[in-house]
Amino acid sequence: MKILLLGVNGQVGWECQRSLSLLGELEAHDRSTADFQNFQQLRDIVRDSKPDIIVNAVAYTAVDQAETYIESAYQVNREAVALLAEEANKLNATLVHYSTDYVFDGKKSGRYSEDDLTNPQSVYGKSKLDGEQAILKSGCRHFILRTSWVYASRGNNFAKTMIKLATERDELKVVADQFGAPTSAELIADVTAQLVMRIHQETDFTEKNSGIYNLVASGEASWHDFAKYVLEKSAVLGITLKVQSNEVEAITTAEFPRPAVRPSNSKLDTKKLKSLLEIELPDWRFHVERMVTEYIENQS
Ligand SMILES: NC(=O)c1ccc[n+]([C@@H]2O[C@H](COP(=O)([O-])OP(=O)(O)OC[C@H]3O[C@@H](n4cnc5c(N)ncnc54)[C@H](OP(=O)(O)O)[C@@H]3O)[C@@H](O)[C@H]2O)c1
Repeated sequence: MKILLLGVNGQVGWECQRSLSLLGELEAHDRSTADFQNFQQLRDIVRDSKPDIIVNAVAYTAVDQAETYIESAYQVNREAVALLAEEANKLNATLVHYSTDYVFDGKKSGRYSEDDLTNPQSVYGKSKLDGEQAILKSGCRHFILRTSWVYASRGNNFAKTMIKLATERDELKVVADQFGAPTSAELIADVTAQLVMRIHQETDFTEKNSGIYNLVASGEASWHDFAKYVLEKSAVLGITLKVQSNEVEAITTAEFPRPAVRPSNSKLDTKKLKSLLEIELPDWRFHVERMVTEYIENQS
């Protein structure tokens, strides 16, 4: 099996390189060799590689910046994805792609299922939804994995920002009225590997099951809960903090205005994916200790 992994330097891409390298021949690219704003280069890479499976971990993820750099966000999140889907279709390859809770407006009271009505409120959310729709329209074999609140020891994310701010500042205020599931890149990559194995091993698996799946850790938290837990673990593991876990102040979204609107409810129902792969998804706290340990190792 030949796997083409795109976005190897991102949080999810990096972990996918680890989890997918056992499964077959892995060709991995970062921005320097596969630029999603250089469509000819991207097309050539897919055609030369002739993969059985394409795993696309690239995205324009700077949510606030996307409100200004609209064209770039759409090029990466929609146009390049449409191109990958078209090429996957020609090769009869399966496209594994990631999407986001931001395709929803967050107004529902319970968890979002895959079939719930989308209504993105930001350029990022709209461009990601357009990417999903381009894949569906292309008719290629696909799995679209919608995830949320991704964290890892590598790359930029909320958890690492909280540790940094808590070591530098005297006070920390965090939004407590948005709810979701912090999900580690490690978990996403492990589930991706399970999925890729099934795609490879089972005839008809992809034909029967192509579609959109929610992939998030179990449980739920507010950003405030998440920050507190990350700092609690950080202190236990020896990071000297100026702001302790119990000193993080809870604020409302209205008190912390941002250029892009975030959904207040990002909770995704994972029944469909758990049933497909016969897996359990661990609680969001499960990978935090490992992430903080790796963060400390990377600092030294
Ligand atoms: N992060 C989250 O909280 C979150 C939440 C929900 C869904 N998701 C989805 O999960 C997937 C993985 O996200 P992630 O958290 O791993 O994001 P990430 O850490 O920001 O990684 C995204 C990768 O895309 C690359 N990239 C951006 N523009 C590119 C371009 N023009 N050409 C080539 N590469 C480009 C970046 O390259 P550089 O390293 O060179 O910048 C980076 O390596 C994405 O589909 C994202 O939409 C993420």
